[in-house]
Amino acid sequence: MDKCRAGSVRAPNQPARSETDSMTETPDRHDFALDLIVSAGRLAMDYFARLATLETESKKDGQDVVSAADRAVEDLIRDAIHAVFPSDGILGEERSHEPGTSGWLWVVDPIDGTSCFLAGLRDWCISIAAMKDGEADSGCILQPVTGDLYAARRGGGATLNGAPILASATARIETNLLGFGANFRIPRQSVIAFADALMASGGMFYRNGSGALMLAYVAAGRLCGYYEGHINAWDCMAGLLLVREAGGWTMPFPGPGRELTEGGPVLCGPAHLEHDLLALAVRAGHWT
Ligand code: IPD
Ligand code: CA
Ligand code: CA
Repeated sequence: MDKCRAGSVRAPNQPARSETDSMTETPDRHDFALDLIVSAGRLAMDYFARLATLETESKKDGQDVVSAADRAVEDLIRDAIHAVFPSDGILGEERSHEPGTSGWLWVVDPIDGTSCFLAGLRDWCISIAAMKDGEADSGCILQPVTGDLYAARRGGGATLNGAPILASATARIETNLLGFGANFRIPRQSVIAFADALMASGGMFYRNGSGALMLAYVAAGRLCGYYEGHINAWDCMAGLLLVREAGGWTMPFPGPGRELTEGGPVLCGPAHLEHDLLALAVRAGHWT
């Protein structure tokens, strides 16, 4: 992995530290997260190099798996946050929710795309978001196998390896690929209904096993949107900020009446496709 790449990731108009942070000498959370995700990526790659000996277990179903790597990477991330921001909260996939008292909440998926990771595929990533008073402020997603680091800061734009990225300005559902997440937390009929509505509209789905990476691909203009009937906050909080900062549209998450810890449906894409994406969801029988 290329640490220099991560070190250079900052929107051109973005100051290194916020005024408040420089006065109190608190490290800037976005810069901290960019360094942290690189360390986390190194540890994940150590495990990826010795998959054959990795301990794994199923959680809710046979497709929902966790390994010693997921837990070790989450522990590394949590320990680093505790050491520097002891009063911040943490919501991560593999350990219990720590609410915190500072108004800041870190939302962490140590490995998103665990099934791909365990299969020796490259489609997995680490996702870290920092939220202030309920709003995503900073987000980064690292795909360790390629070294690609996607980063966004509220109001500061989105970048891939330091270069600005934008959601597609020209994509159409009938001509481009739509990221499509499926899991066993929701009835499979609703997954099938969305696939049916998408194909009836002339569209085609793309799934690689990592919701966070597919959201980053929307931000980078590679996919014309992303849909999943239910996703957890750690899968999508960084990715949704990336999409918005890349000029895209995101449906409010987790949605009315839901707690962040419950997760909810996710739908997003380039701003000009908001109407078409919502129409697709309605056609599939969602949110009528
Ligand atoms: C899963 C992946 C998958 C998505 C699921 C997630 P995990 O996360 O993001 O693409 O469809 O909803 O749970 O288990 O690989 O961290
Ligand atoms: Ca995940
Ligand atoms: Ca995970």
